[in-house]
Amino acid sequence: MALPTIVASGNGTSALATGIRILKRGGSALDAVEACARLVEADPNDKTVGRGGHPNVLGQVELDASIVDGTSRAAGAVAALRGYLYPISVARAVMEKLPHVMLVGDGAARFAREIGAERARNLTASTAKEWRAQLRAIGETPASIRKRKDLVSRVWKMAIDELGTVNFLAIDRRGRIASAVTTSGWAYKYPGRVGDSPIVGAGNYCDSESGAAACTGFGELAMRLLTARVAVERLSRGASAGRAARSAIEDANGIASPGTRLSIVVLAKDGTHGAATTREGVRYTFMTSVMSEPATKPRALVPRTSTK
Ligand code: GLY
Repeated sequence: MALPTIVASGNGTSALATGIRILKRGGSALDAVEACARLVEADPNDKTVGRGGHPNVLGQVELDASIVDGTSRAAGAVAALRGYLYPISVARAVMEKLPHVMLVGDGAARFAREIGAERARNLTASTAKEWRAQLRAIGETPASIRKRKDLVSRVWKMAIDELGTVNFLAIDRRGRIASAVTTSGWAYKYPGRVGDSPIVGAGNYCDSESGAAACTGFGELAMRLLTARVAVERLSRGASAGRAARSAIEDANGIASPGTRLSIVVLAKDGTHGAATTREGVRYTFMTSVMSEPATKPRALVPRTSTK
């Protein structure tokens, strides 16, 4: 049986000790990944997740999250959720309280209100200032952009290469696996744009018989390839975690256009893990129940070589 372990994208490092404490006292992988994700969601310094995450082109913070229980294969997700502090917990409540997997937009917010989820003003002073600066750079103001009928051209001008997300994959003492992914998505996106993070199978997947995988980067790539599901399928066919991660990025490179990027973390049911990326210098992080602090490792670099 694998040691209780949590693997995360690099921006999840500071949450791992909390997750490992839950696993060490016999808590579930599901509780551990949710607790870790909540810490990052509430941290206004991570501009790619939760409160303080980058807004869409209109200055609205629309959050996406999903959680998967690899034992029951239950899953819950929310997309384009506005005004709540912990999208991951709303996603878990979708899984546990409704006969559905995913809620979006106003429906997700209505459900969050109904379950008494904690509200938050997710656009912080710092992200509002950056949004206004981006608008100024393209000759717009908050008032002018809100009046516009055409946002397509504004999104092409404003959308920046800022597409972080946080991933947590965990195995508990009973060998149960769970995974959580949460994000504010593509900075200055078109309102209503949803990425891979809340799409079970694209940006997040696990199965306690095989392992778990989750993505960061351009969700449009992972959505087209069902990257996380395919990586877990490769584990089930005997690939190592490292091999499953590298081949997922090779697949993405096959359809990627210039400037896009994708990264993946993979955890196999035996506790081994690996990660890969299209971009130099991206690390991932992990912690087991016998470690006193998290460790970070470089991801395997799988650069895009084609010029198409
Ligand atoms: N991977 C995060 C997103 O595309 O929204």
